Amino acid sequence: MKYLNKSFSVENVRVEYLAKKFGTPIYCYSYKKLKKNIIKFKNNFKSFNPLICFSVKSNANLNLLREIRKLGCGADVVSIGELMIALKAGISVKKIVFSGVGKTTRELDYAINKNILLINAESKSEVIEIEKIAKSKKKIVNIGIRLNPNTDAKTINQISTGKKEDKFGLTEKNFIELVKYSKNSKYINLKCLSVHIGSQIVNNLPYEKMLKVIDKIIKKSNQIFEFIDLGGGIGIVYNNKTKKLNYKKYNISIKKFLKNHNSKIIFEPGRSIIGDTGIIISKVIYIKKTKDKDFIILDCGMNDLMRPALYGSNHRIIPVIKKNSNSKKTYEFVGPICESTDKFLTSKNFQKLKEKDLIIICDVGAYGMSLSSNYNVRPKPIEILIKGSKINIIKKRQKLIDLI
Ligand code: LLP
Repeated sequence: MKYLNKSFSVENVRVEYLAKKFGTPIYCYSYKKLKKNIIKFKNNFKSFNPLICFSVKSNANLNLLREIRKLGCGADVVSIGELMIALKAGISVKKIVFSGVGKTTRELDYAINKNILLINAESKSEVIEIEKIAKSKKKIVNIGIRLNPNTDAKTINQISTGKKEDKFGLTEKNFIELVKYSKNSKYINLKCLSVHIGSQIVNNLPYEKMLKVIDKIIKKSNQIFEFIDLGGGIGIVYNNKTKKLNYKKYNISIKKFLKNHNSKIIFEPGRSIIGDTGIIISKVIYIKKTKDKDFIILDCGMNDLMRPALYGSNHRIIPVIKKNSNSKKTYEFVGPICESTDKFLTSKNFQKLKEKDLIIICDVGAYGMSLSSNYNVRPKPIEILIKGSKINIIKKRQKLIDLI
């Protein structure tokens, strides 16, 4: 993704052309970037050849999942819907793990029928429920148990999941008890210890601490795990203030851990695979001037991209057509929704815009479309995947008629 002759382009396709042809807002992804991210992820950890289960919650587009499958990944799912989409994308059941604190009987039943690789249980009640279903089917079910390592991921509070006050996983004591219980069950085959301490992690220390805790607890529990599922969480660079996780260091800590444990590593990355592959193309509807700043009112709102409203996150905004002019303005980019949090970014140094100009919101591939809603009875945007010069519509724009 770059400017070609001052016109922002995804691979060989000018974004301006897409806006004219399909209207705005548009979610647009680059295949090249997706492929590059997956190859890079694999290379970073190639010495221990992990199973990479793409976290479907970050982006559940069927066509993207098909591409992700072709590039060798499995799936991490958290609902029957996500499991169905992963299967429809052709992902092998041997590469699917099912996480989540509240799997219903129907969801467990479906997953057990499909013989997926692992159901990662998060409570004793869930293990008992799995056992009950397995018994009725005279089956032995492969499970993992999610540990809550009580490790602060040092990320945004709302997306931290590994501290003892969080609802996820089991504390050390409960984990060890549940390992004992599962060992004695005829219908359960305990294969995996899983963790996931949070998302958008850019600091290596939490991962190092997490691995130390796992190491200690495995020794205490006296259990050999065929798999260690380290979850996802690796952060991406959203702006020049974000730090970068040191992959080399993370790789070294895992290799050190594996010296004492003969297990296959599973990762559940979402954002680090898909985050920077996607943009939103949006149009300026109106410009409203005030004394201190001008409001740039876009045709894309918090229903299309929730992250700024939910977490105060900053997605870079850039113009589609770069101009040479030196005059810079202070702009507040907002959506059309009747909420004060429907606000994307304040920029103090933006090139002068006029109504009907196009802008790009960057790095929205993860938790962009998947968190979108129909709030204010607004149809969801079209999704487009660019491969070289080829434009693939991978999801049609919702029609008003579908909503009314
Ligand atoms: N595995 C589990 C069990 C998870 O809960 C998550 C994310 C992942 C894997 C993938 O994590 P990732 O590699 O994408 O960081 N909506 C928030 C992020 C919520 C993450 C929830 N769990 C956001 O937009 O920042």
